[in-house]
Amino acid sequence: MIKSILTSVLLATAAVQASPALTERAVENANNNDAYTLPKSDRNPRARAAEIEVKRKGWQYSEFPMGVAYYPTGTLANKTIAKDEETWFPPIAKKAEATARESPIALEAIKAKGGLNKLEDYIYLYEDQWAESFPEGPIPGIMTNFTDDRTFSMMRLSASPYRLQRVKPTDKLLFPVDDAAAITGLSLKQLQAQGRLFLEDFSEMKELDPTDKFGAGCQGYFYIHPKSGDFLPLAVRPLVKGREDSALVYTPKDSANDWMLAKMLLNQNDGWHTTWAHITQSHSAAEIPYLAAIRTLSENHPVLVMLHRIEKTPWNIRPLLQNGVEAGAAPDSGPAYYAWTSRSGRTWANQVYESGEVANFQSNYYRTFLENRGLINSRFGPALKSFPFYEDVAVITESIREFMTTFINSYYSSDRAVAQDSELQAWQRETDVAKVYDFPESIKSRRTLIDILTHQAYLGGIVHGVMSTNGAIGDTTSLPFAPAGFRQPIPTKKGVKDIMEFMPTAEGAVWQVVTYAAANRYSWKDTNETISYMFEDQAMLSRMTPQTREAAKKFKADMDAFSVEIRARTFDKDGLNRGMPFQWNVMDPNWAPYWSVV
Ligand SMILES: *[C@@H]1O[C@H](CO)[C@@H](O)[C@H](O)[C@H]1NC(C)=O
Ligand SMILES: *[C@@H]1O[C@H](CO)[C@@H](O)[C@H](O)[C@H]1NC(C)=O
Ligand SMILES: *[C@@H]1O[C@H](CO)[C@@H](O)[C@H](O)[C@H]1NC(C)=O
Ligand SMILES: [Fe+2]
Repeated sequence: MIKSILTSVLLATAAVQASPALTERAVENANNNDAYTLPKSDRNPRARAAEIEVKRKGWQYSEFPMGVAYYPTGTLANKTIAKDEETWFPPIAKKAEATARESPIALEAIKAKGGLNKLEDYIYLYEDQWAESFPEGPIPGIMTNFTDDRTFSMMRLSASPYRLQRVKPTDKLLFPVDDAAAITGLSLKQLQAQGRLFLEDFSEMKELDPTDKFGAGCQGYFYIHPKSGDFLPLAVRPLVKGREDSALVYTPKDSANDWMLAKMLLNQNDGWHTTWAHITQSHSAAEIPYLAAIRTLSENHPVLVMLHRIEKTPWNIRPLLQNGVEAGAAPDSGPAYYAWTSRSGRTWANQVYESGEVANFQSNYYRTFLENRGLINSRFGPALKSFPFYEDVAVITESIREFMTTFINSYYSSDRAVAQDSELQAWQRETDVAKVYDFPESIKSRRTLIDILTHQAYLGGIVHGVMSTNGAIGDTTSLPFAPAGFRQPIPTKKGVKDIMEFMPTAEGAVWQVVTYAAANRYSWKDTNETISYMFEDQAMLSRMTPQTREAAKKFKADMDAFSVEIRARTFDKDGLNRGMPFQWNVMDPNWAPYWSVV
């Protein structure tokens, strides 16, 4: 397959060889202070066509050991990848140096305080620790309020909404919950019929290759309470390969230890999901349309310039991950506390990419996605009383859309002008060759183009922020509530006596912080790497339209205001913030980076 694509690319470049040749050096020198232009108003269309032709030769598709989308190769691609590394790598090295320095101190502090003897003790892991790498610790409330069922359920409506769905009245139920009526006042069937039942299904994870730690593939039911309207957990069923028939169903009626372990088992799945799915869901899903754009749009095209800004230094990530997978795959090296091998993580990441779940372009537009899962504008069942993920993400994404609307409208006076942009049309066709899943089948309206650009920015700034940068370490992979794996096998009967036997040791806990701190960028808080600065590149803006410059100013002001709002959030008199026993501040636009950092 790849071979035939490469061949057709080579044929395409051969066919246009009659046009004037432009050296690669000339492409590099094409940077000047002229305004960016659409192809129809370029004064030198021959040079422009030649420039694109050179890029098509210098940026080709290749397969990568990590899998998922095609990876760029070729003289120009390789040069860019090497050059990117100069700016991309130093913060990573600095972070590694900080965690290497700070982890023995954290370990020592845990020991000095008497070690980890109960779940509450995991606060020692963070308290006054990680001065450079993670000074503020997990999101406020999550370390003290983890026994509250609303912490568990509301994490699904903030930190990790990507596997949640409302159960349709016609769906087949996955397992019975005998206690449903005693817990909720309604039977499982009634909850379903009323559109109050929700599901997270990670059952496929039971098939992953185990390490010497343990995990299960969990199915979890959640519901909207008939009286209070609260979103609460109903049941968790951990599935273990070979033991499916005797799988236990845990509910809030179980002993505190049993129920806590069940919730943690599902949290572990979400942590794994965040870790591996984010590679495809934010990185690759954005990288591949970008690569197609590089091969079809001139460096003078305002749309490509905008993509360059949003897709900052993307190409070094997969090599880094690939090295990590190889290092972690050896039996006694690498991540020692995951329940499953990193090789099976790579396989799983490719599964969710190939299935389209995480890679489909249009069906992952945030509103479309949330609607398809019955989480917003559902045609059945009550609306969610509080949906912090949607509330925060909508503010930022709609501000991005507002910016993109002005930007695009300032270049294209009509839909017809979009349809007549030969480079945009070539980009759309190229996305087929690049195998971008579910990309718009045509780009014939301003709206379509605005949607595409808004989604690209959403993938890097928001999806990555939620699933990786400040998100994971602060919520879905924070301790004690979300261990990366368990030290004891998944129980065959209820009655866990000592939950600490399952929990990571002090060394394991420190490893977990170090692992996820690599993506976190506390040091970028309030700098121009954050979402507020997404379009604040004066060199770029000076070559764009005045309307674009105004829109960038407005975006910055709107994001600053939203940051102030987020930072003013508190717990109310019931100890809740937006119905949650924690404060989800991951999308603070003056803290979350605007791009998919690592
Ligand atoms: C680009 O880099 C890849 C990976 O190192 C290499 O296989 C390929 O030959 C390089 N291509 C060129 C044209 O330098
Ligand atoms: C971001 O800030 C840094 C440090 O202050 C500065 O060197 C850099 O030029 C800024 N970047 C942009 C695009 O303004
Ligand atoms: C959650 O934690 C915060 C800070 O520790 C506390 O003020 C609040 O009362 C807690 N909320 C609940 C519902 O326990
Ligand atoms: Fe990442």
